[in-house]
Parts: sequence; structure tokens; C-alpha cells
Amino acid sequence: MTQPEPLLAAHQVTKRFGTVAALQNVSFSVHRGEVTCLLGDNGAGKSTLIQIFSGVFPPDSGTLKLDGQDVRFRGPMDALDRGIATVYQDLAVVPIMPVYRNFWLGREPNRGWGPFRRFDKSRASRTVQHELAQIGIELDDVRRPISTLSGGQRQCVAIARAAYFGAKVLILDEPTSALGIKEAAIVLRYIQEARGRNLGVVLITHNLHHAIPVGDRFTILEHGMVSASFGKGDLTFEQVADLVSGGTEGRTIREALAASGNDSPRARSDNNPGM
Ligand SMILES: Nc1ncnc2c1ncn2[C@@H]1O[C@H](COP(=O)(O)OP(=O)(O)O)[C@@H](O)[C@H]1O
Ligand SMILES: [Mg+2]
Repeated sequence: MTQPEPLLAAHQVTKRFGTVAALQNVSFSVHRGEVTCLLGDNGAGKSTLIQIFSGVFPPDSGTLKLDGQDVRFRGPMDALDRGIATVYQDLAVVPIMPVYRNFWLGREPNRGWGPFRRFDKSRASRTVQHELAQIGIELDDVRRPISTLSGGQRQCVAIARAAYFGAKVLILDEPTSALGIKEAAIVLRYIQEARGRNLGVVLITHNLHHAIPVGDRFTILEHGMVSASFGKGDLTFEQVADLVSGGTEGRTIREALAASGNDSPRARSDNNPGM
């Protein structure tokens, strides 16, 4: 079966910080209408990879492809303009600013022209109210400071904002790590909704209970290298956990995956809780 062209892909990407090889020959792809989970221990290189995807810095070597074309981002705004939106855990919001102002920050709609151009508050807040209602966040007043929202709601506002401004790829770096169970569930539900809208989603998380139910593809980074890639249902929860923690069973699985010569063997297990 031929795979569809990835929306965004890294080929053999290497990135060093001084003597530290944060990434070594990493290949990774993001597909439309799929959630790809990027897993791995602290320091594995996850944030470095997504910073390359979001134009923060270029790779030292290797290439990036967007819609099948080679691409070099000139900076974060360039990546954003090309439809790659990244939502970081510590959201870049202004806490005392109203929810709707945060939504429009840097992209304010204007009314009138020339010296009469000004931010159209009523249109801006109506749009935000509508967009949030679409994802199930009903606010009595979008003029409330964003600091009055829960962590999960703030993440959802950031995701809704990215989708509204035309993101094709949505990258989420640990969006659920600071959230309680209910809050995380809200964010995960909205990640699934973004996939339903045909966005390509990259989800970085430490929590396999969050990754496994929503992920379609999984890549594990270990010391800056891809240690395993597999598809939904290929492995059991325990096998994925073992791979991430670098356990002995994980090594065996990794060798089997490598020997099959295929990134995504359909080695579906009978005992497959949660996938
Ligand atoms: N800006 C930087 N300067 C120097 N070293 C860095 C920088 N960013 C990341 N690193 C190093 O690169 C490696 C990968 O880090 P990172 O991508 O943040 O991992 P992860 O997100 O998986 O925890 C680590 O050893 C980290 O210390
Ligand atoms: Mg990180």
C-alpha cells in the first residue's frame, strides 16, 4: 500500500548544540487528518525537533518538506504563515488581557481605513465567542481576563486560535502535562476534533494514557535518535511503555521492528488494551 504524501516531513535531520547532538539523522512525518505522537524521555530531542518544524532554528543538516516541497523556514513567523502553528505548554498569553484580545493578539481585525483604522471590538469578541462555542467552551463574557479560564480552557483557546488562523499543522508540546484528568480530557477531545478537520497534529506528551487513545502514529526519540516508529494498534500499552522507558522488552521489540524493515509493521497483539 502506498502511503499518502506527508503534509510535513523531516528527512535525516541533525541538530547540535555545541557538543550535544540533540538530533541525529531523525526522520519524522506528519499526515493530514492524523495525530502523530512524539514520545521520549527528557532530553530526547522532542522540543528541538518541533522547534525546527516551527522555524525557531534550521537543522544543521537534513531537509524539511512541506506538502512534498523542500522548505527552509526563515523564522517562526515564516513557519506560521505557511500554516504550521505551535502551541507551547507555557502559553504565550497576557494573563490580564481579555480572552478575545488574546485570541486576536498580533492579528487584530481592523475596521475603516487609513487614520480611521481601529480594532473592531464587537466583531472581534463575537467571532471569538462563536469559535469557542464551536469547541464546547461557553463563556458568559469573552471580555474576562484569560487568567480566569482553567488551564484546559486556555489550551483549547490556543488550539482554536491556531485552527481559526488557517493552520494546516498543529504542534502541541506537552499540552496536557499541567492539567487534571477532566481538563486533559477536554484538550484531548479537541485534538481529535482538529484531526477531524483534516489538520496534521503532532502531540508531544509524557503521558501514554493521553497519547495512546488519540494517536494514529507514534515515534519514540531516544538520545536524539528515532528508536521506534509504529502505528495505532501495532503494540500493546505495556510494550509502548517499555519502549519509552528503554526496558529489556522494549529492546526486543525495537529489534523486531528494525528487522521487519518497516516502520509500521501490522504486528497487532491480541492483548491490546487502550489502543
Ligand atoms: N538551546 C539549547 N542550547 C543547548 N542545549 C540544548 C538547547 N536546547 C536543547 N538542548 C539540549 O538538547 C538535548 C535535547 O533537548 P530537548 O529537545 O529539549 O529534549 P526534550 O524536549 O525531549 O526533553 C538536551 O540534551 C538538551 O539539554
Ligand atoms: Mg521538551
